[in-house]
Amino acid sequence: MIHAEPKDLPIPQIHGYLLGGVQPRPIALVSTVSKEGVNNLSPFSFYNAFGANPPTVAFSASRRGSDATFKDTYNNLIEMKECVVQAVTHAIIEQINLASAKFAADVDEFRISGLTPIDSDIVAPKRVEESPFQMECKLRQMIPLGDGRGSGNLAICEVVKFHIADDIFRAGIIYPDFIDLVGRNGGAFYTRASGDAVFELNKPDKGNCIGFERLPAFMKESHVYSGNNLGRFALTEKLPTDEEAAGFIESFRQPKDKKESKQKFFRALRRQDYESMLRTALALGDQGHLNIKILLERTAKCALENGNTESAWNTAVFAGSL
Ligand SMILES: Cc1cc2nc3c(=O)[nH]c(=O)nc-3n(C[C@H](O)[C@H](O)[C@H](O)COP(=O)(O)O)c2cc1C
Repeated sequence: MIHAEPKDLPIPQIHGYLLGGVQPRPIALVSTVSKEGVNNLSPFSFYNAFGANPPTVAFSASRRGSDATFKDTYNNLIEMKECVVQAVTHAIIEQINLASAKFAADVDEFRISGLTPIDSDIVAPKRVEESPFQMECKLRQMIPLGDGRGSGNLAICEVVKFHIADDIFRAGIIYPDFIDLVGRNGGAFYTRASGDAVFELNKPDKGNCIGFERLPAFMKESHVYSGNNLGRFALTEKLPTDEEAAGFIESFRQPKDKKESKQKFFRALRRQDYESMLRTALALGDQGHLNIKILLERTAKCALENGNTESAWNTAVFAGSL
């Protein structure tokens, strides 16, 4: 481990640690306008949403690392107190990258990036037509976080109007694959928040899950279950009794004279076919196979990772009873 206090580190190194350890960060594509009427468009990944009532987003347009001067976005916000914050999708990431280059204050980054400015309804800054998620915002507070090179300036903004493309919804929620957002990592890395990068977790929202500490010791001591496996097991409200588990397992028992092989078990594992794994493991147990407990734990793990919690729990409890 590296153990360091920021006072002993150069600012670029601190910046690098923050970018690398706080990621992927959402990206705000912020449009502002100067009092002379020049449009400005820049991406900011020190950004997030902070409350729904009132709807609040915040981002930090830091002082420049080179000379501690303020960025155009900061100056425009201080003068005009308005901006539009847009979501950054994969379809426009290269154009957003262009908008982040350092241009003079009188340069309109809509023209540099080729993105299309369209009028907002309430605020003066333009919206970016190509983004499917746009928020017209009023600046509520600007909090300076220092006065040196790289110091942040937290712009806390209230959303006064949303503009959201209706085709990014599925079942009432903005669906990750449809909005296809991009996040910022450290270095020059970015993350595409769709496809294989996206997964779902069951919410422990009822507050009556058993929790990690009430998991049976035979599960916590297992060398098969990972921390994630145990975390998912611990979401359950009630574990099956030994009798319930034995009853469940019985329906998978094959005739006593059925011969099975370990190879068949591992073929089923490759297919993630936990029911076949269970039948084979039980038959191997009947044949006197020594590692039956581990094979059953691997079966429970496979069922769990494929979303069948009932099968996973019954198999895990049965394995623990052996
Ligand atoms: C993806 C991405 C994220 C960025 N995030 C930030 C940020 O959070 N804060 C910041 O000050 N600059 C950030 N930058 C750099 C600014 O976009 C850049 O300094 C820009 O030129 C500022 O423009 P302005 O002077 O027109 O406001 C980021 C750049 C990129 C490409």
